[in-house]
Amino acid sequence: MIFTVAIDGPAAAGKGTISRAVAERFGFRHLDTGLLYRVVGVLGGDPVAAARGLGPEDLTRSDLRTLEAGQAASRVAVIPEVRAALVDFQRRFARADGGAVLDGRDIGTVICPEAEVKLYITASAEVRAHRRWLEVGGDAAQVLAELRERDARDMGRADAPLRAAPDAVVIDTSDLGIDEAVARACNLVAAKLVRRP
Ligand code: CDP
Repeated sequence: MIFTVAIDGPAAAGKGTISRAVAERFGFRHLDTGLLYRVVGVLGGDPVAAARGLGPEDLTRSDLRTLEAGQAASRVAVIPEVRAALVDFQRRFARADGGAVLDGRDIGTVICPEAEVKLYITASAEVRAHRRWLEVGGDAAQVLAELRERDARDMGRADAPLRAAPDAVVIDTSDLGIDEAVARACNLVAAKLVRRP
C-alpha cells in the first residue's frame, strides 16, 4: 500500500509529536525531514557536498536538536542545490510500500504533492517559543527571537518556502492539547484510509 501523510508547519508547532503518534497508530514509517537539514547545517564545510554525501549514520548524531543546529539548518535550507540533493531520498521514502509519515516544511507542496493526507500544523509564535524553551531552556526572549528569525527565513526563501498546501487541513495547536491534536490528525488519516479505492 502506498499512502503518504505530509505534515508541514513552523518550528515547535507540534509536527514531530503528531507525526510520531500517527505513524505508531497506523504502523507507518516516519521521517523527520528537518534532521536532514540539521545534519547538513552542523557538518560545516561545503553544504552541497554534505547534502550529497549524507548517510543514515549522520541522522543519529546527538547534537542535532540544539537551537544552533536549527539555525544552521535553516541557513543551508535556502540553498537550492542542498534541497535538490535531498529530494530523491524523501520521495522514495514517501512512496515506498507500507505507508509513510513525513514532517517538514515542504512535504505537501514540493516533496509529495500527491500525498493522500496533508496537514499544516501551526500555533502562535509565543506558544511555540514557550514550548521550545521548555525543551532547551536558556533565555526565553532569545528563544522567541530565534524562532521568529527562523520562521521569516523559512517562509521568505525563494525555493520551497514554508506555506500550507492549498489542500492541506490546518490544525492550530495554540489552544489545543496534544491528545486532541493527535486525535484530529488520526481521524483524518483513518477517514482517508477507509475511502481508498
Ligand atoms: O523541529 P523544528 O520544527 O524546530 O525544526 P526542523 O523541522 O528540525 O527543521 C529545521 C530547519 O530545517 C527548518 O527551520 C527549515 O529551515 C529546514 N527544513 C526545511 O527547509 N525543509 C524541511 N522539509 C524540513 C526542515
